[in-house]
Amino acid sequence: MARSRWLVALTGGAAVAATLVLAPTAATAAPVRYEAENAVVSQGVVESNHAGFTGSGFVNYNNVSGGYVEYTVTAAQAGTHSLAFRYANGTTANRPVNVTVNGASSVSALAFPVTGAWTTWQTVTTSATLAAGSNKIRVTATGAEGGPNADSLTVDSSGAPVANTPVGINGQLHVCGVKLCNQYDKPIQLRGMSTHGLQWYAQCVKTASLDALANDWGADILRISMYIQEGGYETDPRKYTDMVHNYIEEATKRGMYALVDWHQLTPGDPNHNLARAKTFFTEIAQRHKDKVNIIYDIANEPNETPWSAIKSYAEQLIPVIRAQDANGVVFLGTHGWASFGVSDGRSEQDILNAPVNATNIMYTFHFYAASHHDEYFNALSRTVDRIPVFITEFGTQTSSGDGTNDFAYSQKYLDFLAGKKIGWTNWNFSDDFRSGAVFKTGTCAGNNFSGTSVLKPAGVWVRDRIKSPDDFPTS
Ligand code: GCU
Repeated sequence: MARSRWLVALTGGAAVAATLVLAPTAATAAPVRYEAENAVVSQGVVESNHAGFTGSGFVNYNNVSGGYVEYTVTAAQAGTHSLAFRYANGTTANRPVNVTVNGASSVSALAFPVTGAWTTWQTVTTSATLAAGSNKIRVTATGAEGGPNADSLTVDSSGAPVANTPVGINGQLHVCGVKLCNQYDKPIQLRGMSTHGLQWYAQCVKTASLDALANDWGADILRISMYIQEGGYETDPRKYTDMVHNYIEEATKRGMYALVDWHQLTPGDPNHNLARAKTFFTEIAQRHKDKVNIIYDIANEPNETPWSAIKSYAEQLIPVIRAQDANGVVFLGTHGWASFGVSDGRSEQDILNAPVNATNIMYTFHFYAASHHDEYFNALSRTVDRIPVFITEFGTQTSSGDGTNDFAYSQKYLDFLAGKKIGWTNWNFSDDFRSGAVFKTGTCAGNNFSGTSVLKPAGVWVRDRIKSPDDFPTS
């Protein structure tokens, strides 16, 4: 790693104008390559002394943190698009960067691993949510050694905006045996986050936070948590239905599954809200039936209510949804606050004895790892090979969503779920004061949601576990 050439920025530290190499013409245009040497460069210089670059050269970032290359790229359509950075790193250490789009943080600490030589060029691919038309994509070195040598950025906004996203790859889901399968009929595990109650924490579910969730965290699924009581839907059905419509569109733009959560909690009998649920889900299903990414979660946590009442509720509501959206997957909360009855002194046997008379459904289970140890874990492990299960909530803390994190027991659950390809959404994507809210208090007032500096310990932990690579078979 030569450090002899402390270079001045081009044109006295300012920049050269960005130029497009190829102009995208239509939605069917091929991926477009933007050369780094034509981009705006700060604290770096254009060179051509290492062979193998495309265009007329590459950008050598100064060996300082804060230098950047800023590309002006055109997206044919708004949405999540793939970005492929071609680079060389002839050192022995990663050269991480932060990526912003139009000034907002998109991906933090994107790794540029060693390539073996300065003449060996490789590609790092990520995604970003772009506006239709012109966008500024700035790639800023964060380490003292600066960035890698930057050759080009190729943006694929050619096909559907979400082609390389979880929804783009997996398409319409269906229940296959006890698994959730993708359009290739292969079981997949979805991992993502649940919002907190929209009546309290809608400020945490906005452009910058959803961009971070999709691109920086790499989430597959957003659970949209709409309470019914507790100041939620029943106080203003129009307002809350419209909020959910909007969040479905936002998840769709970013290629994430949208899990529409009818968050009944108090009272515990979902039949109390059956008429409301019919109205709400009819409109949701009618509006979004042509999308492939909608999942219906029709009862969050039934409690102190027998399984027979929950089964009856489901058998009345599911046909109403299916009348609009014939192939949407439906999730149903189980008795005892989605514990297969354990928290109500019952067990999964109630469900096994009398499953819901419907197809394409999954039963949900919630756990809070500091409260729910072996009794819950054992109930889960006894049940998952017998009926389809999805974890629509879990926390690393106690069932209050607060208290000390039990990461060891949480890991035991997640390892088990990964082995079984059982999907999950973690509670919760807010800056509430409790330890289970991933963001530090006050984060949602701002526009910086990526990286770990904004996260509480539970957030750092779960982001890592959402960020690890997906396994989405396509054949
Ligand atoms: C060497 C190499 C440069 C590279 C630099 C670095 O000087 O020739 O192309 O940018 O190391 O460490 O960044």
